[in-house]
Amino acid sequence: MHYLKNAIKLFSYFFSDYIFYLRHNIDSKCGKDCQSAKIMLLMHQLEKGMSFTESKREFGAEKSQQLVAEIRKYIERYGINDVCRVAINVLNEFLSKENSTRNEDIRTHIEMLCKEYAYVIKSDFAGVKLVSTPPIFNYEAIEDFFASRSSVREFSDKPITDKELEAAIQIASYTPTACNRQTARLYHFNTKPMIKKMVDNQLGPQGWCYNATSCFVITVNQCYFGGGYERHQALIDGGLYAMNFVWGLHLNHIATCFKMFVREPKREKEFKRIANIPKNEIPVVLVLAGHYKSTPVISPKSVRINFVSSAI
Ligand SMILES: Cc1cc2nc3c(=O)[nH]c(=O)nc-3n(C[C@H](O)[C@H](O)[C@H](O)COP(=O)(O)O)c2cc1C
Repeated sequence: MHYLKNAIKLFSYFFSDYIFYLRHNIDSKCGKDCQSAKIMLLMHQLEKGMSFTESKREFGAEKSQQLVAEIRKYIERYGINDVCRVAINVLNEFLSKENSTRNEDIRTHIEMLCKEYAYVIKSDFAGVKLVSTPPIFNYEAIEDFFASRSSVREFSDKPITDKELEAAIQIASYTPTACNRQTARLYHFNTKPMIKKMVDNQLGPQGWCYNATSCFVITVNQCYFGGGYERHQALIDGGLYAMNFVWGLHLNHIATCFKMFVREPKREKEFKRIANIPKNEIPVVLVLAGHYKSTPVISPKSVRINFVSSAI
């Protein structure tokens, strides 16, 4: 009976996911986000093309042509945004490359766009960069940094400042994302009633969550992904972002503990309503955070077992 109940529940979850992926993907009619996603994918492809300097093959005709069209479409519908600004810079760089397309018609279209939006063009802003072996790190200091993070479930009352938050977001922004789509979104709640509402929706405080002065929700925008083989990619990108955000908080001496997002369709819908999260975003995880208490707190040791298998 228990097995059957579980099976039915699981099937209903699959079905709900299926509907979600059908409604929200790069080819759906989500408007702004889908349009943004197309621009980000195309500009990434062009930047990658520019980085393959060994090849002398002419490249980018089709992609640059598409990119011009998608940027124009976006600006016409929604006005210019940062994604368009970066994309125009990428196109401007693309034109200057030796083996970028020689097709006169396409080059003229790019030139016209860049001329029209000349005020967004900054030198050396987009395109490619030189990467070499990083400088010598202070290995011990950096290992100490990683080793000194622990999940903390008790916090002082001192709120997290905007400056600390901005610094942590800066660290999180270094996270790589699939095709540089940068789909993670961060929501910050710092009032006790709001934290309580969200935590209560997520099966309650487990004896510690109300202690936090901040609750962050990391979500991902599903409209940046195709509905097929990329169906779980959003969660991977969001997970990587969440971890780096926590490293950013740690660097700023802010204590954190993740809280798993309880993923049940009805609960998720209610959660999004409470937190005012758009329908096309997937909550990835919650991060409860606050400043450390002035005295040490007891935390589980959470001993690590290295399950990593070695190469055969
Ligand atoms: C995705 C994720 C979800 C988690 N959810 C919870 C949670 O719901 N409640 C909790 O007390 N800890 C939660 N944790 C914290 C883990 O218990 C903790 O990271 C793990 O025991 C390792 O300990 P450490 O973070 O101190 O290294 C979560 C951690 C992760 C990565």
